[in-house]
Amino acid sequence: MEEAKTLIRCEGLVKIYKTEDVEVFALQGLDLTINEGELMAIVGKSGSGKSTLLNLLGGLETPSVGKIYIGDVNLFDLSKKELLSYRRDNIGFVWQMCNKNLLPYLTASENIEVSIYGNMSKEEKRARSYELLDKVGLAGKEEKFPTQMSGGEQQRIAIAIALCNNPKIILADEPTGAVDSKTSDQIQELFRTLNKEMGVTIIIVTHDMHLADKVDRTVMISDGKISSEKVRVLAESADAEHEEFSVLDSAGRLKISDELLEAAGIDKRVKVINEDGRIIIEKI
Ligand SMILES: Nc1ncnc2c1ncn2[C@@H]1O[C@H](COP(=O)(O)OP(=O)(O)OP(=O)(O)O)[C@@H](O)[C@H]1O
Ligand SMILES: [Mg+2]
Repeated sequence: MEEAKTLIRCEGLVKIYKTEDVEVFALQGLDLTINEGELMAIVGKSGSGKSTLLNLLGGLETPSVGKIYIGDVNLFDLSKKELLSYRRDNIGFVWQMCNKNLLPYLTASENIEVSIYGNMSKEEKRARSYELLDKVGLAGKEEKFPTQMSGGEQQRIAIAIALCNNPKIILADEPTGAVDSKTSDQIQELFRTLNKEMGVTIIIVTHDMHLADKVDRTVMISDGKISSEKVRVLAESADAEHEEFSVLDSAGRLKISDELLEAAGIDKRVKVINEDGRIIIEKI
């Protein structure tokens, strides 16, 4: 197998939101490496920090502490202008609610045309938008307005917009959160196809465990850190087996799920034993 190439490296991300009198620790020292061409899901309970992580990856917010390296460059060492061009050149966003992605008074094609940067003629932009709409399965619907289309179709336009400047990375926050399960399946399939055909790295935040099973890797966030990950074992089959791993943070801490702790009858303190290269955590 080809050696995977690192695209993004998150190191010790901490994000603290200060509201009037309380501080919320949205991320608490999160480490994560994402490879070029990965199709990845981020899962976790509500409030665990998923959207916060996505916004940091997209350069929409800055962390309180920590770094995100793209190659050798830390995103947060960039000037505002450099960060803007990083975002423009590298990232496509897809949000949960269609109305955050689309302008209602523009047609599907026009919604894409206005999102294309760079020196293209009107005709070139039109041709590009038609090509993208075809790619996401909306050929023939180019001149329709979003309100004349279903939720799933609107999400496809949003995906076409996200692709329009040839991004390296697509960040999608609950892209199937507002559609039914059949539509959700079709959108998942579209993400898979785009990932395979265009090589674009796709990171999807989701509550949908069904979707999580369809991707190459699923990372679970709990309490603002990556606690475990599931990795696809057989890369080619759509319903491949996944193996689950726990993830140590940079301080060597390990989160063990409540279910496992309960099953082992472990409460607060444990005995940690090193036995022939295995570490055993034992109830005391
Ligand atoms: N702008 C903000 N100001 C204050 N607190 C915030 C802000 N954004 C997020 N938080 C808090 O940070 C924590 C993490 O939020 P985040 O939106 O990242 O969670 P999430 O995992 O995306 O949740 P959900 O699944 O509900 O979308 C939550 O406790 C949230 O209330
Ligand atoms: Mg969220």
